Amino acid sequence: MTSAVRHTYSNDAALRSRAGRVLPNGMYGHQNAASLPPGFPQFFERGQGCRIWDSDGNEYIDFLCSYGPIVLGHQHPRVEAAAARQQALADCQNAPSARIVELAELLVAKTPLADWAIFCKNGSDATMLCMVIARAATGRGKVLVAQGAYHGAGPLLTPRATGGVTPQDRANILTYSYNDLASVEAGVEAAGDDLAAIIATPFRHDAPADLVPVDPGFALGLRAICDRTGAALILDDVRAGFRFHLGGSWEPIGVRPDLVAYSKAIANGYPLAAVLGRDSLRDGAGRIYATGSFWFAAVPMAAALATIAALEEEDAIARMVQAGLLLCDGLRRQAAAHDLVVTVSGPPQMPYMTFASDTGLERMTVFAGEAAQRGVYLHPRHNWFMSAALREEEIATALERTDEAFAGVRRRFGGS
Ligand SMILES: Cc1ncc(COP(=O)(O)O)c(C=O)c1O
Repeated sequence: MTSAVRHTYSNDAALRSRAGRVLPNGMYGHQNAASLPPGFPQFFERGQGCRIWDSDGNEYIDFLCSYGPIVLGHQHPRVEAAAARQQALADCQNAPSARIVELAELLVAKTPLADWAIFCKNGSDATMLCMVIARAATGRGKVLVAQGAYHGAGPLLTPRATGGVTPQDRANILTYSYNDLASVEAGVEAAGDDLAAIIATPFRHDAPADLVPVDPGFALGLRAICDRTGAALILDDVRAGFRFHLGGSWEPIGVRPDLVAYSKAIANGYPLAAVLGRDSLRDGAGRIYATGSFWFAAVPMAAALATIAALEEEDAIARMVQAGLLLCDGLRRQAAAHDLVVTVSGPPQMPYMTFASDTGLERMTVFAGEAAQRGVYLHPRHNWFMSAALREEEIATALERTDEAFAGVRRRFGGS
């Protein structure tokens, strides 16, 4: 097979140097490319379908989907048309448009547990609101969170409690181990009569580690513990939402939480998040102060209405599963052919890969860098995301290039 031309990154280097003067560390947050291998640009210019282009015009097949939001593909025509129609009317106004009612109605209709919705901007807003609503409803303070789970960047929930986080910020957080009901029971006991909520992700997707499916018995156990104690069960569906089931990611295992936090894929890249909840929490939700200057903007809501309709009508989840299966099977076969031992974990819509004996992710770093330089964007430390825009031919092209990336790992580290 022909080798894709290796990229050059001169515009990116110039922009990084300018950014170094005006942004802390040259970039902040999870999109800081400084710790990514060569081949990962810091700046992107455009996207179309499953392809993205950086500031040097280098093209990549996108398996990160903006860390999840791009579920239908970049610039999806139906979503862009709905957003443009709304933009031509108004976006940010003195009060919301009718889109907020239409979207709340749609989400409540699609989500078996939900009776009401509150909209905000980020996943961090949504998980925080869930906690505050649970506290308002129960009159209690403590929240049980899985050790290492990511639920947002604020001081209360960040798992990376480094700069600017005080012990007081964390005083009401207790931890448990994912899929371990005994550790949850220990947390419940430690909380005494002050347990407001237990929060969980639909499966364990803490980076950088193999992804772990939820044990259905664990999810049922959480439900039973919340029923027994009166605490609210919060499903943090920010990362996985809309890639598994349009009614919530635990619908297939038959466990219904009391509150769900959505964001990322809800509007195919437009900034929006939602909290959905049961009637039993409606009063609590009505007593909190929830607002934000941009929370009522109409364009993202119009985009969400179109995204959810397209996800359903275009059978998008099945297409993401199909694309993910092709990619994951191909990677497993290629690794074996290069005498490399890998674990491809997670559901096909959101997979991740690790190499054996790769404690510092050295092999994964080389693999992802070699792939990126050939135009395949696979993050070395974070789970990947499929979009419904990926077709068989793009997966085949990506696999031609990952074969060369595996060869690079083999050259550098040897086999097995
Ligand atoms: C499971 C989960 N919850 C919450 C968040 C926070 O979302 P945001 O980055 O939109 O604030 C994230 C972000 O990655 C997430 O993956």
